[in-house]
Amino acid sequence: GNGFDRELRAPICCILGHVDAGKTKLLDCIRRSNVQGGEAGGITQQIGATYLPVENIRERTFLKAEATIKVPGLLVIDTPGHQSFSNMRLRGSSLCDVAVVVVDITRGLEKQTIESLDLLKQRNVRFIVALNKVDQLYGWKTCPNAPIAKALKNQSEDVQREFKWRLTEVVTQLKGSGFNASLYYENRKVKEVVNIVPTSSVSAEGIPDLLLLLVRWVPEIMMERLTYVDNVECTVLEVNEDKDFGTTIDVVLINGVLRKGDRIVVCTKQGLVTTNIRYLLTPYPMKELKAKGVYKHHEELKAAQGAKIAVRGLRHAIAGTALIVVKQGDDLEQAEVAAVQE
Ligand code: GTP
Ligand code: MG
Ligand code: NA
Repeated sequence: GNGFDRELRAPICCILGHVDAGKTKLLDCIRRSNVQGGEAGGITQQIGATYLPVENIRERTFLKAEATIKVPGLLVIDTPGHQSFSNMRLRGSSLCDVAVVVVDITRGLEKQTIESLDLLKQRNVRFIVALNKVDQLYGWKTCPNAPIAKALKNQSEDVQREFKWRLTEVVTQLKGSGFNASLYYENRKVKEVVNIVPTSSVSAEGIPDLLLLLVRWVPEIMMERLTYVDNVECTVLEVNEDKDFGTTIDVVLINGVLRKGDRIVVCTKQGLVTTNIRYLLTPYPMKELKAKGVYKHHEELKAAQGAKIAVRGLRHAIAGTALIVVKQGDDLEQAEVAAVQE
């Protein structure tokens, strides 16, 4: 089809990179939140998910009002960069459609940047490099929320020179990891060459560019993959104990619909457990799923979304495994086979 006759779901975008590159801060900048400020030691220790509706994204870009965006939003997965959390980076990179690799421009590629690039290469995941902290270049004049080309034009020759050599350095390092990359607006071969978007998570230069690339370029290159299908595809992100809801599991719903009351099969350390969805919850749009906050109750929820579900018997659920919905008329055994195979 031409893309207008199909329903696309929100792309799932995983944020990866070395510790302190600015992954959470980048998301805070987009959400206008302060999740990073509340983290112990400023270190992310849990995988997160945030739904960004297209209206909010549009508001942050310089896109003309009549320009179409084919996806209903973006589901963004934040991961920790600390070396001890490679399991969460693996989980994030396994379930995403696309990734943003955040690189601190003052530091270039670091250990977990390279680890992340290797994960993406293994899984054939397309990605964008956010070359973050441009505001830290010596003498940078802030241009809040400006498109990056405009912000760069505003800089002194010295700043432009420093930017250029740091960019060149990162391009060379990426080449060393096996990727050709280019500043996105100079990229003539978007199919083969990785797009680099310079950003600041403090003054938001380049944020419009990054969002625009995600909602316009991503659907273009993976229309098929983003076409909504009814079959439930759902992954367990985290297991928590909540004082109000008991055991809850954070899930990413990649395709299909989840309903309150659904009979589900989940892998636990004690084997497969069949139970029901007691509550189906999401945070409000632009809010982090893992952050303590106010949840919206749903009767049903359509992909792609991050959700918290309250369930009995899943205290030992295994993060990273599939959640299977037992359809009426399906036999349980079939669902169990599916759960084990994933
Ligand atoms: P982990 O999740 O722990 O791996 O770190 P992270 O990549 O999420 O980085 P985080 O958002 O925690 O930011 C690390 C530090 O860098 C914080 O002190 C941020 O305020 C700072 N920071 C992040 N982005 C920018 C930026 O664009 N400019 C400046 N000046 N500081 C930034
Ligand atoms: Mg973080
Ligand atoms: Na950090």
